[in-house]
Amino acid sequence: MDAIQPETVTVAIEGTGQNVSLPMIRGTLGPSVIDIRKLYGTLDVFTFDPGYSGTASCDSKITYIDGDKGILLYRGYPIEQLAEHSNYMEVCHLLLNGELPNHKQAEEFHHNVVYHTMVHEQIRSFYNGFRRDAHPMAVLCGVVGALSAFYHDSLDINNPDHRRVSAFRLIAKLPTIAAWAYKYSIGQPFMYPQNKLGYAENLLYMMNAVPPEAYVVNPILARAMDRILILHADHEQNASTSTVRLAGSTGANPFACIAAGIASLWGPAHGGANEAVLHMLEEVGTVANVKPFMEKVKDRANHTRLMGFGHRVYKNYDPRAKIMQQTCHEVLSELGVNDPLLELATQMERIALSDEYFISKKLYPNVDFYSGIILKAMGIPTSMFTVLFAVARTIGWVSQWQEMMEDPAQRIGRPRQVYTGAPMRDYVPVDARGA
Ligand code: CMC
Repeated sequence: MDAIQPETVTVAIEGTGQNVSLPMIRGTLGPSVIDIRKLYGTLDVFTFDPGYSGTASCDSKITYIDGDKGILLYRGYPIEQLAEHSNYMEVCHLLLNGELPNHKQAEEFHHNVVYHTMVHEQIRSFYNGFRRDAHPMAVLCGVVGALSAFYHDSLDINNPDHRRVSAFRLIAKLPTIAAWAYKYSIGQPFMYPQNKLGYAENLLYMMNAVPPEAYVVNPILARAMDRILILHADHEQNASTSTVRLAGSTGANPFACIAAGIASLWGPAHGGANEAVLHMLEEVGTVANVKPFMEKVKDRANHTRLMGFGHRVYKNYDPRAKIMQQTCHEVLSELGVNDPLLELATQMERIALSDEYFISKKLYPNVDFYSGIILKAMGIPTSMFTVLFAVARTIGWVSQWQEMMEDPAQRIGRPRQVYTGAPMRDYVPVDARGA
């Protein structure tokens, strides 16, 4: 870790007279952190932080978020600039290798991805084991987990070449696996990847084309999908990325780690929120129902949340949501789609942003609030929303996994706990346990 500064803080435990000097670590941006690693050894106490609201689990050079100002940087570049000027392949190169590619590097990177887009033919038969009505996220989890059974030649996690090949395999194969999960659910033949197409274009092609007809992907849709992929590519130590890192810290192979990440992403508090937003909008139905729905949201006993709102880190507008909202208007107008759900979402956002409940809790729209409406306008079924998030986030997971594997200080992740169960007691034979 090269960001350590020779600064210390002294931590004292009140009333015991015990204290310890702990190093402060200063990153390039953001608040400093106190390195508590020797706290337990010195004072025999742990820190307690369920949900990790105040804990940095690692140091990383990949992504930076300033939640108060609503800033998101990939390797230092603002997300707004990348969304406007870059493309997803370039962003993948940036996240994985640390720099934007020059022409030659971009070509090589694209070639490496394209070279791995097919999956082993036997993987096709895996799909037949799933029910047709299986959620595509369940299928994605299973098939990605199974990849390690097929690519034995790249499973040595200590070999940089193996790590690199696995990274390309994952980035390249996820669209194929995701599109096939969709095709399987609607009973259509699987479409093989077309290497002459761009990444987002290929994904849309494999989802929408059918063998008997030539299919040309609408460039507006391809560009919108590319932008959606950029916006979801990485987000520092969120739940699914932390899952990937924790699984990876045990030495598990990258395919297994990414499958774990996909499972973690699925929950409605995380990547599953895009699907949940659409269900929520459909349930609310009309602008007239917004107010009563908001009352339900504000009533804690009701356990209803305004999906697509709130974030652990952002206490301001999620910068991705702003771009998503703008993209949503552009896509709908370019496609000539007039979706009343967009009007409903806009009204809900307006009402929430002027309501004391949301203001006082600093709850703003997050990336998922508008993404579902765009995806719906693009003709993508709701059950595929989180799958597409997983496709986009694979580069983030792989980059974070690779960064961790390259860190010589990397150790198994092993949190501790506060035990609040029964104290030690003796075994009681069944006859002596009472009625
Ligand atoms: N609607 C209503 N109330 C909310 C919401 C919401 N969407 N989000 C947070 N709150 C309230 C919550 O009830 C709590 O109130 P109180 O202090 O009275 O107990 C307070 O705000 C703090 O909430 P929290 O659950 O302690 O905050 P958190 O940081 O643990 O959770 C979150 C963050 C994203 C899980 C949460 O805001 C949420 O459930 N949002 C809806 C789901 C969603 O949109 N998730 C996508 C997140 S962005 C994309 C991604 O990560 O994949």
